[in-house]
Amino acid sequence: MTPLAAPFPLGRPRRLRRTPWIRDLVAEASLAPADLIWPIFVREGTDAAEPVASLPGVERLTIDRAVRAAEEAASLGIPCLALFPYTEAADKNPQATEAWNPENLVCRATRAIKAAVPEVGVLLDVALDPYNSDGHDGLVRDGEVLNDETLVALEKMGLAQAEAGADILAPSDMMDGRIGVLRAALHENDLPDVTILAYAAKYASCFYGPFRDAVGSGGALKGDKKTYQMDPRNRDEALREVAIDLAEGADMVMVKPGLPYLDVCAAVKARFGVPTFAYQVSGEYAMIEAAAANGWLDRDRAMWESLIAFKRAGCDGVLTYFAPRAARALAAR
Ligand code: PBG
Repeated sequence: MTPLAAPFPLGRPRRLRRTPWIRDLVAEASLAPADLIWPIFVREGTDAAEPVASLPGVERLTIDRAVRAAEEAASLGIPCLALFPYTEAADKNPQATEAWNPENLVCRATRAIKAAVPEVGVLLDVALDPYNSDGHDGLVRDGEVLNDETLVALEKMGLAQAEAGADILAPSDMMDGRIGVLRAALHENDLPDVTILAYAAKYASCFYGPFRDAVGSGGALKGDKKTYQMDPRNRDEALREVAIDLAEGADMVMVKPGLPYLDVCAAVKARFGVPTFAYQVSGEYAMIEAAAANGWLDRDRAMWESLIAFKRAGCDGVLTYFAPRAARALAAR
């Protein structure tokens, strides 16, 4: 290999680290509010915010408060919100029918946000778990998570969300064939501009624990999600999943969780060169918050270092509960 630098003592890599300005000048990655997608939890009621015990600093917001969060996103330069519903037990059943009710919580929240702050994007998850009394992302029969029957439900769900004004549909269920079904349904229903961000490589992870508290699906879940979410041992399989989702019509892809799967993020971006996102999931956020609360880590530096890692790995953006805090910190620099 041709040497890239003179050997020591003429070559001295520390020259490029001597001062803040030269470090900025040669920095390879950058983080801006425009790289962030802010996940928020929505609940029924008015003018209320309820803390989520396992996610310090994160609250379940009533729709009016969610609109205010969207206004905050706009003022901070955060391009997009991801909305997740906290569903009351009474609205859950084994068919997850609330998922495609055009008056469900996320559809109403989407309409309210798009009416008040149209310049902020709205992303909605397509998966049955918030509405399914079995807590699974798919329909369950005799203990088995059914693939093709679930696709029928996901199609109705995605159409209801797109008709409510969602800009991005993000299928997070890991059923086979779901991207193709949604893309065809959007096309046939004259919704060609709705973007699909596929949770293409989504692993069966313990790091989703706090999220399941936040949406109230953890208690309901029977068993685990290993028959549809990916095995943490696999990377080649992630590349196959991404290839399938792109071939079926996804515009963008996601790897989830984030930091423990940074090798997957890097491999996906290098192989496909498509818009690639990572989800810094609830458990990753909770780890940093817990350590910071104990005085064991500097919260803001741990936040920044974890987020810049995604950009360095090649991600175009990150879904993170830190979004507003990170955007404020970046603005204050
Ligand atoms: C629903 C969904 C989950 C997350 C996003 N969408 C949980 C799961 O699959 O069990 C997790 C997000 C997080 O942990 O922050 N399918």
